[in-house]
Amino acid sequence: MQFGPLPSRLSSSRSIVVLTGAGVSAESGIRTFRDSMEGLWKDFDPATLATPEAFDNDPATVTRWYDWRRLGCLAAEPNPGHTALAAFEQATVAKGGRFTLLTQNVDRLHQKAGSQNVVELHGSIIAWRCTKTGEEVTPPPQPMKEFPPRSARGGLLRPNVVWFGEMLPPAALAAADEALDTCDLFMSIGTSSVVYPAAAYIQLARANGAYTVEVNRDETSITRFVDISLRGNSGEILPELIKQLQE
Ligand code: OAD
Repeated sequence: MQFGPLPSRLSSSRSIVVLTGAGVSAESGIRTFRDSMEGLWKDFDPATLATPEAFDNDPATVTRWYDWRRLGCLAAEPNPGHTALAAFEQATVAKGGRFTLLTQNVDRLHQKAGSQNVVELHGSIIAWRCTKTGEEVTPPPQPMKEFPPRSARGGLLRPNVVWFGEMLPPAALAAADEALDTCDLFMSIGTSSVVYPAAAYIQLARANGAYTVEVNRDETSITRFVDISLRGNSGEILPELIKQLQE
């Protein structure tokens, strides 16, 4: 693949922000949301599974579905795209640069691959929280025994993800805004860029003068706004790109 000026841009950037979405984990076997063939929202209705109202109406069904997805995430391994991003962070930090990975993914695969500065915009499916006390717990890696599950304090447990209609964690939003304010290179990888506020981050980065890059298997709503769009699988493109930086 031809990367044009990108490798030298990446090497000279001092403050890099990478935004990832479900496409980055697709090659780890985790289903995306909106793809016409394999997307989760093709087979499941988010209104009955991914909203606070759905949890209030039918907590057993909602938690059973999230436990199924949690087990899938726990069983998955990072793919070469995750590994390349971790290596890229390490190389950037080693030469005194700044690297922030904003992810909409709840699977924790970036951390499993070794990424350090990860901001979980949509929370995590690996952590759950008690709806009575707010306490976070990490359920063991086996299927849960009761649905809905309960905490030791007797409150219902819910996945620590952001549902439609809920606020993003304030600390994650603040960390994202702060990183975007100073970034000189912004990469959007494996996201359809339709869910806000993440979908707007490209415009913020552009307004701040950052060079913008997209890596996606398909064309998206931001393709025409970016400086360079690389079309293909992130698990193939990212390792190739990072290899060029090291040469
Ligand atoms: P989507 O499913 O909306 O988009 C995934 C994107 O990844 C699409 O543009 C695909 O073309 C692309 N893609 C698929 N496989 C790829 C690969 N191997 N390499 C590169 N790109 C690939 O997922 P998100 O944009 O992450 O939120 O969705 C955003 C949010 O919507 C999710 O965090 C979730 C969902 O509803 C909540 O649940 C709150």
